[in-house]
Amino acid sequence: MSQPKVLLLGPPGAGKGTQSSNVVDEYGVDHVTTGDALRANKDMETDHGTPREYMEAGELVPDPVVNEIVKAALEEADGFVLDGYPRNLSQAEYLDDITDLDLVALLEVDREELIARLTGRRVCDGCGTNYHVEFQPPAQEGVCDDCGGELVQRDDDTEETVKDRLDVFDENTQPVVDFYDEAGRLVRVDGHGTPDEVWASLREEIEAST
Ligand code: AP5
Ligand code: MG
Repeated sequence: MSQPKVLLLGPPGAGKGTQSSNVVDEYGVDHVTTGDALRANKDMETDHGTPREYMEAGELVPDPVVNEIVKAALEEADGFVLDGYPRNLSQAEYLDDITDLDLVALLEVDREELIARLTGRRVCDGCGTNYHVEFQPPAQEGVCDDCGGELVQRDDDTEETVKDRLDVFDENTQPVVDFYDEAGRLVRVDGHGTPDEVWASLREEIEAST
């Protein structure tokens, strides 16, 4: 069987990163995530300025910059889970031109829960593992269970920027959800349970799609 090609859609905080780790562990595919790629290159000079200016305002980084990142990553991947892309219709059309997908899954979580998840998220600055101060705390406060690295808050996880990011999702990315839905390609997954419960539902959909 060839490796699955999975697109995970969902608003900020829906659990795309959390569930992508499960997909990677289970199937050995590549995790292609524009958010992490941009965070690693925040001060890269492009024709459109640096990613930092957009990200710290909660806005989308211009399409040419992210399209380039995704194209290069997908060319190298044998199976993947795509997280955080596409985020507008033009990116969705570009993606359709460069690859096929086995599954397009939308993680659905309500707004109040999203805000609680994001403002409480902590990320290991060594290995990138996600935690939550309340929902997924590490054994020792502020220290990564996996690598002993320091847990930090993302620059864009302040309450004010989180609200801007949720608005950007409603405005720009909801049309992407509608695009796949209208084409009969969208599978909805309830994202409200525990990470393990959400993973059980998502895994079933992946198994059914390949
Ligand atoms: P990006 O990094 O992609 O952020 P995002 O889409 O806003 O999503 P998040 O990473 O915040 O949430 P997630 O769904 O991964 O949630 P997680 O699993 O961590 O993008 C950042 C910025 O980069 C954008 O604003 C934009 O500027 C730019 N950018 C990126 N891609 C772009 C593109 N294609 N075009 C243009 N610009 C782009 O979970 C969140 C928290 O909840 C964690 O603490 C976790 O522990 C906890 N949690 C997870 N699941 C559960 C659960 N089931 N129950 C309880 N808690 C849970
Ligand atoms: Mg993420």
